[in-house]
Amino acid sequence: MTGSMIIALTGTPGTGKTTVCEFIKEHSKYRDKYRIIDLHKLILDEKLYTGRDEDRDTYIADMERLKERTAELVKQTPVGMDTIIEGHISHYLPADVIIVLRAAPVALRKRLGKRREYSFEKVKENSDAEALDVILVESVEANDRVFEINTTDMNLISVVKTVDDIIESLKKGKIPEEYLPGKINWIDQVEL
Ligand SMILES: Nc1ncnc2c1ncn2[C@@H]1O[C@H](COP(=O)(O)OP(=O)(O)OP(=O)(O)O)[C@@H](O)[C@H]1O
Ligand SMILES: [Mg+2]
Repeated sequence: MTGSMIIALTGTPGTGKTTVCEFIKEHSKYRDKYRIIDLHKLILDEKLYTGRDEDRDTYIADMERLKERTAELVKQTPVGMDTIIEGHISHYLPADVIIVLRAAPVALRKRLGKRREYSFEKVKENSDAEALDVILVESVEANDRVFEINTTDMNLISVVKTVDDIIESLKKGKIPEEYLPGKINWIDQVEL
């Protein structure tokens, strides 16, 4: 694949999408390669929602308007840069590749448990969704080119480097086999 790419960086809440993108924005090695679109921020700033889901304490994204707006923003990405669309619904948007960040449900419960605004139920709902591969399955249904990274025992720099390596491989026409879906299995961590 040549030319500029659109990368959807998705994953269950707490898998580290925003942390990865903040690192990219702050480091010159990556800053000039990738333009970041933060979907959560975009949806709130531009009110791209149809309403609120009070049970989940979240906004319901207006997917049609979100698609239009991200397409406009992608067009503004400077020549020579790739666009990373970051958010747990980014895999629903058109992209050349989807990268799914994964984290063991036990680790995820710890990470999300630290969020003050997250109820016990919300932590459990997300760690169960991770255990059942929900976002990975949705991604594979949406796109032929999907890769996943198990971040559980990785530090931030390694995760960023892996994201960059996957993209670099694809640009050279190589498939980064190590990160093809199906190698991660949390089923023994599902809480019944
Ligand atoms: N590789 C990692 N190892 C350990 N902890 C991490 C790692 N990456 C991120 N974290 C921590 O996990 C928490 C969640 O990270 P972050 O906010 O980036 O997740 P997110 O995927 O953007 O979630 P959301 O979809 O809710 O926005 C943060 O406290 C962050 O510091
Ligand atoms: Mg985030």
